[in-house]
Amino acid sequence: MYMNKPHDLSLSLIDDEDHNTSNNPSFQSVLTARLSRRNVLRGSLGTAVTGMLSAVSLSACGGGDDPAPAPAPAPAPAPAPAPAAKPLEKLNFAAVAKSLEDKVVVPAGYTATVLYALGDPITAAATAYKNDGSDGDFESRAGDHHDGMEYYGLSADGKADLKASDRGLLVINHEATSHAGTERASAFVHLTGGTNTLPRPAAEVDREVPLHGLSVVEVKKTGTAFGYVKDSAFNRRITPLTPVVLSGVAAGSGLMKTKYAIDGKTARGTLNNCGTGTTPWGTTLTGEENWSGYFTRGAADDAARANDKSVTSLKRYGRNQGAASRHGWETGGADDKYARWDISKKGASADGSDDYRNELNTFGYLVEIDAYNKAAAIKKRTSLGRFAHESAAFSKLVEGKPLAVYMGDDSRGEYIYKWVSEAAWAAADATAADRIATGDKYLDKGKLFVAKFNADGSGEWVELSINNAAIKAATNYSFADQADVVVNARLAADAVGATKMDRPEWCAAHPTTGEVYFTLTNNSNRTAATVDAANPRFYEDTKGTATKQSGNVNGHIIRVAEVNGEAAAATFKWDVYLFGSEAGADKSLVNLSSLTDDQDMSSPDGLWFSRATGVCWIQTDDGAYTDKTNCMMLAGIPGKVGDGEKKTLSYAGGKTVDTYVGKAPTADTLKRFLVGPVDCELTGCAETPDGKALFVNIQHPGETISSANAADASKYLSQWPSNAGYGAGKRPRSATIVITKNDGGVIGS
Ligand code: FEO
Ligand code: CA
Ligand code: CA
Repeated sequence: MYMNKPHDLSLSLIDDEDHNTSNNPSFQSVLTARLSRRNVLRGSLGTAVTGMLSAVSLSACGGGDDPAPAPAPAPAPAPAPAPAAKPLEKLNFAAVAKSLEDKVVVPAGYTATVLYALGDPITAAATAYKNDGSDGDFESRAGDHHDGMEYYGLSADGKADLKASDRGLLVINHEATSHAGTERASAFVHLTGGTNTLPRPAAEVDREVPLHGLSVVEVKKTGTAFGYVKDSAFNRRITPLTPVVLSGVAAGSGLMKTKYAIDGKTARGTLNNCGTGTTPWGTTLTGEENWSGYFTRGAADDAARANDKSVTSLKRYGRNQGAASRHGWETGGADDKYARWDISKKGASADGSDDYRNELNTFGYLVEIDAYNKAAAIKKRTSLGRFAHESAAFSKLVEGKPLAVYMGDDSRGEYIYKWVSEAAWAAADATAADRIATGDKYLDKGKLFVAKFNADGSGEWVELSINNAAIKAATNYSFADQADVVVNARLAADAVGATKMDRPEWCAAHPTTGEVYFTLTNNSNRTAATVDAANPRFYEDTKGTATKQSGNVNGHIIRVAEVNGEAAAATFKWDVYLFGSEAGADKSLVNLSSLTDDQDMSSPDGLWFSRATGVCWIQTDDGAYTDKTNCMMLAGIPGKVGDGEKKTLSYAGGKTVDTYVGKAPTADTLKRFLVGPVDCELTGCAETPDGKALFVNIQHPGETISSANAADASKYLSQWPSNAGYGAGKRPRSATIVITKNDGGVIGS
């Protein structure tokens, strides 16, 4: 989402970046150590639009033309594992140029087709989206701000089949909704832009809440074209009101008690779902990211809580007393579904069972969902820690050894985490019939670690355990038990001196090497005084004619190789796969990866490896290079940790910092593949197992809109996808697209 626009202070006030005020010793010691030394572009707009129109007309499933409903989702037989990767050695397409046009640009020989956009109906009864602010019933429609996404195959007779490429389910995160700056209303879903003053009308709140959450939607290939199946029995929405189960070490903890669930074992809904991961047993992990900003906290709540330790926790997670909520949903009425958005202590109970003072503790997790089974519990995996989750990447699986899950916390100066299961991997579990029970086995019991990056290119995983002496000795927060540690993972990580990173976004594991890649999207807070080996850049960049940006403006992608490739390793080696940069920037300080015009990019965010080809897909959510290009997607064929060289960066005053830069990409190993429409970000990537269809999300085209202008198409920055022939109205819509190669081949080959 718009979190990447680094200088919009009004947004950061609401959305809670950068609440890490710790002064970690490891960070300082690193510093000290360093101080001592479509269709699309076949050429013309006309061709592009024609191609898109024909592609849209072929994908008519979404228009309700599918002849027969899918069979009801009976308990599905176990899935078969997906085929192993056959790595591409060279990218065989012509890079696309940077673009400011309001369309999706893909290489010659490829077609991009709009598949599933905000408001599209997913039940037999739901009507076509009018896209004029009059549609309601978003529980029966696509939500907004499509984000992380996973594909799960279905056999012809509607059973789970992870090898199936012609029919499957997409699980799609709906992260947020478009609203301008500090305006509260989601401008494009109300007739005249909605109400920005308080109280918010209940009808508006009821429309905005289910814009969030996830979609599960069936997609199917008819001939050569994919469409979604409007009336599939698998289709469903999961929203911030859907009942969920708290699982893992914090389930039932006193920290989780609310008026909704006095036993602290269940909670209401999932929120601000950003990145995803897919488990080896065929479920989705969806990451709750910027959930904190949706809640308000009373101006005198510190005193109401008698300044107990919950105040420390709330501040660390971005809710100072007096914090306003993003949308003002708490003002919709007296019903609990509105009241829960106010986390002030209001009740007389000692344990929070009569109000929503603990509601914030029920958000901030990886949440496991079985797309195949509507009846399966949705579980928040609390043991893996509470923070601003993006994606989840799994280690290479080794029979008889524990598995690891890698995770990032997206705020400026936050950390990288690893989970190691207590259970040893058993290959038979990949095909277990009860997938959520399999999740219980690997995701509830184990150990949580946080990363320290050392100046010499090594790193260590520090366990966040109630038995860790540094956690026991923490002076700013007194941890009661392991539940307290995971619910307050940021505070625990502060206590052990984890390394503050330049905003960890997605992570992804290389399917062959098992090395884990993390996007560090940018960090406007990084200064020459705080650079370290793993976050080594501070520089200024000009956007447009005047706007100066500073810090790590363009972001980088760091990667980690566990010692001996062991998921449970205590130490690792790291280097930087790529530094984002403008091609023309100084190669001694900024363009350290020597990116060319076919490769240059800013603010890497989405990151995902194809299992079919091994291609590393990099997606951007940028606010720095957008004077020259819209956000984009690149394909990379990376090497491995240590394939490059040490570089010394020099700063004013004689300060130097050494970093480790991966081998520079060539014209064959890194290319721009796609540029999106105006004012969007690219995020979310999934493929059919045969590698011939790539699903990609275009999030928030034209999101910069004042609600006062919501009904005036002349004020829209983007009119995509209607300008590509998709759907009614001119209001821009987040959407899933599907990309295929015109010769029917594997994407990238
Ligand atoms: Fe939802 Fe950090 O991106
Ligand atoms: Ca610039
Ligand atoms: Ca993201």
